[in-house]
Amino acid sequence: MKIVLVGGGGREHALAWKLAQNKRVEEIVVIPGSSGMIEVAEYLPVEWDTAEELADIICSQQPDLVIIGNEAPLEAGIVDILQERKVTVFGPTKAAARIETSKSFAKHLFTKYRIPTASYGVFIDPEEAIRFLEVQTAPYVIKADGLAAGKGVVIAATREEAEQAIIQLLKTGERIVIEEFMEGEEASLLAFVDGETVVPMIAAQDHKRLLDDDAGPNTGGMGAYAPAAVVTPEIYEQAVETILKPTAAALVREGCPFRGVLYAGLMITAEGPKVVEFNCRFGDPETQVLMPLLDSDLTDVILQICRGEIAEVELSWLQAHAVCVVLASFGYPRQTYTGDVIRGLMDVARRDALVFHAGTRYIDGKYYTDGGRVLNVVAVRPNLRAAKDAAYAAVSEISFDGMQYRTDIADKELKKSEEK
Ligand code: AMP
Ligand code: GLY
Repeated sequence: MKIVLVGGGGREHALAWKLAQNKRVEEIVVIPGSSGMIEVAEYLPVEWDTAEELADIICSQQPDLVIIGNEAPLEAGIVDILQERKVTVFGPTKAAARIETSKSFAKHLFTKYRIPTASYGVFIDPEEAIRFLEVQTAPYVIKADGLAAGKGVVIAATREEAEQAIIQLLKTGERIVIEEFMEGEEASLLAFVDGETVVPMIAAQDHKRLLDDDAGPNTGGMGAYAPAAVVTPEIYEQAVETILKPTAAALVREGCPFRGVLYAGLMITAEGPKVVEFNCRFGDPETQVLMPLLDSDLTDVILQICRGEIAEVELSWLQAHAVCVVLASFGYPRQTYTGDVIRGLMDVARRDALVFHAGTRYIDGKYYTDGGRVLNVVAVRPNLRAAKDAAYAAVSEISFDGMQYRTDIADKELKKSEEK
C-alpha cells in the first residue's frame, strides 16, 4: 500500500512514523515533507499554488490513501477535489474545515447549537469594535477571523492595548472576533470523527507560549504531554457529550458533515470544559505525544474510517506517559533564522527517546535548522516525571546556535500531583 501524507512538520513526521508500523504499508510519500523524515518516509519538496495543482501532484503518485496533515490545503478544498477524482482521502471538506478556518463560522455554530464557549461579538468596523469594549471587562481577547497558525490572538490587559490590537488586526484582515476571557487550564481533546460518530483520543496538553511559566508571545506550540490529568474522567465525558458530539452533529445538520480529526481546544473552567477553538486536523505538537502512546494501528483506523466503518473503531492506548519538548530556532516566533548546524542528534539514541523533525535540512551528512520549530524530542515512560526527565536528558544531547526551548513542559501537572 502507498500512502501520501500532506504537510511537512513534526506532526507529519510523527504520523509517518506511526503509519509506517503497519506491515502492509510499502511506501509513504510526504508532500512537501522534509529530509528529516528520511528514516520513515520519502519526501517530495514541491510547491503548489492552487488545490488543483496539489491534487495533480498527489494523483501523479497513484496513492492508495491520502492523509492531509495541515490546515492550509484543507481550507483550499483539497479533499473536495480528491473526492471528485475518486481518491481515498482522510480529512474534512472545505466546508467542514470552516470549523477551524473561520472563527466567525465556528462561533455562530456554537451559539446556534448551544456548545459551551466564551460569549463574543464579530466586527468589521473598528469603531464599533472599540465601543463593544465598553461592555466587556479586562483582559480583552481579540482574534483575527482566519487562519493565523496560532498567532492571530491578542490578550490585551488594558483598553489601550485592546484598541491598538483592533486597529492592527482590522488593517490586515477583514473581520475580528472579540470574546470573553475564560479563566482556567487548557487541554486538547482530539477525536476521529465521521458524521455524527466521534471516537475520542486521550487528552493532551500543549504549551503555547514561548517561555517558561506561560510568558512571552503565543507560538505554534512549544511542547506537549499526554495523557493530561487536568481532563479528569468526568471532564472528559462532559467534553465528549457537550462539545465534541454536538459539534459533529451540528456540522451534519449544517450540510457539511466532518470526516477526519476534530481537535477541540478546551478551557477547563470552574463551570466545566468550554471551547477555545476547534481545529480540523491533528494538533502539532500534540500528535508527537499521542502517536507514541497509541497502541492501535493508525493506518488500519484511518482505512476503517474511510470505508465508512468508524462505528467499529476501538482505540487502545499504552499505559504510559509521553512528554515532547520543542526545540526552536533563534528569533522564533517573530523571525526565522535557518542554516545553523545541529549537533548531537546521533547521541539521542542512547537516551531511548524519539526525535521528530519539524524544520531541518540534511546536507552532506549534517542536519541544519530550516524553520522556526526545528525538532520535537519525545520520551515515553511509565510515569510523567520519568517521561519529563527522559525528554530533557535527550534534549541535553542536542545543540545549535540560538536554540530556544521551555524547561517546564508538564510542570503544572507534576506540581499538582507531587503536592498531593
Ligand atoms: P486560539 O488561536 O483561539 O487557540 O487562541 C490562542 C490562545 O489564546 C489559546 O490557546 C488561549 O491560550 C488564548 N485564548 C484564546 N481565547 C481565549 C479566551 N476566550 N479566554 C482565555 N484565553 C484565550
Ligand atoms: N497545538 C496547536 C495546534 O495544533 O494548532
